[in-house]
Amino acid sequence: MQGKIAELRLAALQSVQEAASVQELRDARIRFLGKKGELTQLLRSMGSLSAEERPVFGKMVNEVRDELEAIWDKREAELFRQEEEQRLKAEAIDWTLPGRRPNIGTLHPITLVINEAKRIFTSMGYEVVEGPEVEWDYYNFEALNIPPDHPARDMQDTFFFSEELLLRSQTSSVQIHVMENRQPPIRIIAPGKVYRADADMTHSPMFHQIEGLVIDEGITFADLKGTLQLFIERMFGPDAKARFRPSYFPFTEPSAEVDISCIMCGGSGCRVCKSTGWLEILGCGMVDPRVLRGVGYDPNKVSGFAFGMGVERIAMLRYGINDIRLLFDNDVRFLKQFGR
Ligand code: PHE
Repeated sequence: MQGKIAELRLAALQSVQEAASVQELRDARIRFLGKKGELTQLLRSMGSLSAEERPVFGKMVNEVRDELEAIWDKREAELFRQEEEQRLKAEAIDWTLPGRRPNIGTLHPITLVINEAKRIFTSMGYEVVEGPEVEWDYYNFEALNIPPDHPARDMQDTFFFSEELLLRSQTSSVQIHVMENRQPPIRIIAPGKVYRADADMTHSPMFHQIEGLVIDEGITFADLKGTLQLFIERMFGPDAKARFRPSYFPFTEPSAEVDISCIMCGGSGCRVCKSTGWLEILGCGMVDPRVLRGVGYDPNKVSGFAFGMGVERIAMLRYGINDIRLLFDNDVRFLKQFGR
């Protein structure tokens, strides 16, 4: 019997040594020391022993059990620590790996141009205002001295919802809202979307304008020229020249269109400026006395100027974009180039 115990002890010790993982060690423990383990089975075989032998044998088995339990515990703690160490090593964070950059969006060229214009005009004391895109005929046409049958309505191919309601075809409608609601002095710009039934390389059915309006006592065409000259120099650089061409708008008198010296060729003539050396960027003029009277101002007391510029046009010129549709396709590979 003693021989059997010694044999079992050795076998158990060996399996402790051979166990390569906590799991293997636990399995072996159950095999030897578990309820149905080999040691328990040995204990059960005591029945065949004499009454004197039994306690001696029982004591021996228990001693061996205690010894083995202690050894198992110790080895299990060791193996556990080793495995933990290996796991941590495998999981270790490599601080030298480059991080994954979040994909940060960039501002759209149209937003960039509007922001730049806001910066330039607010630095001159202008306030930025907005008006509705769905507009009454009255604000888009009537109050701007364009009565129902006026041929000037054909200048802009307007989207109508009804006889009265439309998508604004020009930000000039904001002029009327502002003048209706306050008294001079007025100095505002109004950036926003406008809509016209038109689509090709240089026209989009939705595009952006920036309207400007100044009303005060003694405002002259010289103020208009100086203001736009300064704006153009700041927007396009100190070498950009401005040219005022006589034009016609129902709500300004006199009216003008403003060209800038071609920023592609500097004025010598190229494909972009169609060999003229000049590029049109805005319409402007002195606010027509009829418009002033319409909002309750006295044209003998106050005068003013207004201008309206095409944002896409300016963006295309500034960034050398030759197709307006690129501005609305929203291809990130295109948009990324203007980032900030
Ligand atoms: N609203 C005009 C247009 O869209 C531009 C303009 C604005 C002209 C203000 C004169 C004064 O063509």
